[in-house]
Amino acid sequence: MTTDSTQQLLIEGLQEMYYAEKQLVDALETLADQTSDETLSEGFSEHREETRTHVDRLEQVFDEIGEEAQTREDRVVKALIEEHEAFAEDNDGDILDRYNGAVGQKTEHYEIAAYGNLTSLAGKLGHDEAADLLEETLREEEAALDEVTEASEQFDQQAVGQ
Ligand SMILES: [Fe+2]
Ligand SMILES: [Fe+2]
Repeated sequence: MTTDSTQQLLIEGLQEMYYAEKQLVDALETLADQTSDETLSEGFSEHREETRTHVDRLEQVFDEIGEEAQTREDRVVKALIEEHEAFAEDNDGDILDRYNGAVGQKTEHYEIAAYGNLTSLAGKLGHDEAADLLEETLREEEAALDEVTEASEQFDQQAVGQ
């Protein structure tokens, strides 16, 4: 693989996350609104604000590597959002809260994998500032995963058997 194609891999990955983060700003608002459990719902609201920062940070990353900020459809996040919409149409109450906790965890795991790779790629290509910015987001995704996992477990304990 040439250096050029590694750069292209980085750019396409950044474009997908730029798409994903923009979609997630709206999706997290939906999750916060439709989740009854207070801890889970507040977690979604707080992470929505962080997600706005992730969008801004990606714009800084594009700037750092001398590329225009562009989106590229991220089919994984698109599918997660579509599946969630379909589920939420037919379900509510505790079962929807449970589903929302799970979809939140899946999304954070995916973002962690994506940002972990992008951080390494940027570092490998010598884009040190970009790598630092991506790593900052990576840490916030890891903290968000811990939070939504803990809130989901707490919810499970309170709502046993429902
Ligand atoms: Fe994010
Ligand atoms: Fe996230």
